[in-house]
Amino acid sequence: MSNKYALILGCSSGFGKATTLALAKEGYNIYGIHMDRGSAKQEAEEFQAELESLGVKALFFNVNAASDDRRAEVIAEIDAHSKTVENHNLRVIVHSLAFGSLKSFINKDFDAMLTKKQIEMTMDVMANSLVYWVQDIFKAGLLADNSRIYGFSSIGGSRQMKNYGAVSAAKAALESYIRQLAVELAPYGTTANTIFAGLTNTPAASKIPGFSQMIKFGEQQNPAKRLTTAEDVANAVCLLSDEKNTWITGDVIRVDGGDAIYEYFEYDSTI
Ligand SMILES: NC(=O)c1ccc[n+]([C@@H]2O[C@H](COP(=O)([O-])OP(=O)(O)OC[C@H]3O[C@@H](n4cnc5c(N)ncnc54)[C@H](O)[C@@H]3O)[C@@H](O)[C@H]2O)c1
Repeated sequence: MSNKYALILGCSSGFGKATTLALAKEGYNIYGIHMDRGSAKQEAEEFQAELESLGVKALFFNVNAASDDRRAEVIAEIDAHSKTVENHNLRVIVHSLAFGSLKSFINKDFDAMLTKKQIEMTMDVMANSLVYWVQDIFKAGLLADNSRIYGFSSIGGSRQMKNYGAVSAAKAALESYIRQLAVELAPYGTTANTIFAGLTNTPAASKIPGFSQMIKFGEQQNPAKRLTTAEDVANAVCLLSDEKNTWITGDVIRVDGGDAIYEYFEYDSTI
């Protein structure tokens, strides 16, 4: 059994799940954090069993990753487990948490406006938690001398989108946190990068109001005329985590099939 480990925050769905599976197929053991109830909890348990059937160790924690107490408990368990493994190597850390309030800042209906609590919760789960997890992993001495940290961002981090104010701010903050971590952790051999993913049909994205229209637009707006898939993103994480990649850090790396460089324009010869 390999001693390479990956910690995936948000392992049960979308990018996090696809990345977990791709890394497990490459021999990574998994520490998976997720927050699920009912049928989603059941699916997460089945996924954990699927990973174990690949011959890797999969330790899943169904907790709120934004809770200080739960984070401390999980890291203590990871620490205890790491001491039972020879040459334990926490090589990959992926932040793939999606849990935000999709509302506008301004609305004639005051009750429909984003509240302080909703903004803080969105920032905490989708951005701040990355810093707290990395700090505590560092304090526990769990970072390897070649760890790779990834956060996921999107066009929403730099462009205005309807009802996306809180998530957009979280994306911009996440990109900034990754840059800062890249510099502060460089002396320890750790790299940190943001994956800037194209529009992908995941459970989180499908909650964005007008998502079915976004899908149609997104397909046209892509030069290959398809959306990004979670597997595209997972493959990029695997590629960047290859031993040969030693020097890419602090970057925002587009994994969008060319969305951001392509200006879709349908020529109408009748005009
Ligand atoms: N889907 C897209 O089009 C797209 C594009 C670019 C970037 N992203 C970003 O990628 C990341 C993942 O998005 P996704 O679409 O794969 O989401 P998703 O909803 O499919 O998965 C989210 C995961 O996070 C977990 N989770 C959510 N809140 C949690 C909490 N408080 N504690 C513990 N676990 C929690 C869920 O259990 C699940 O495993 C997000 O940061 C998202 O903004 C998504």
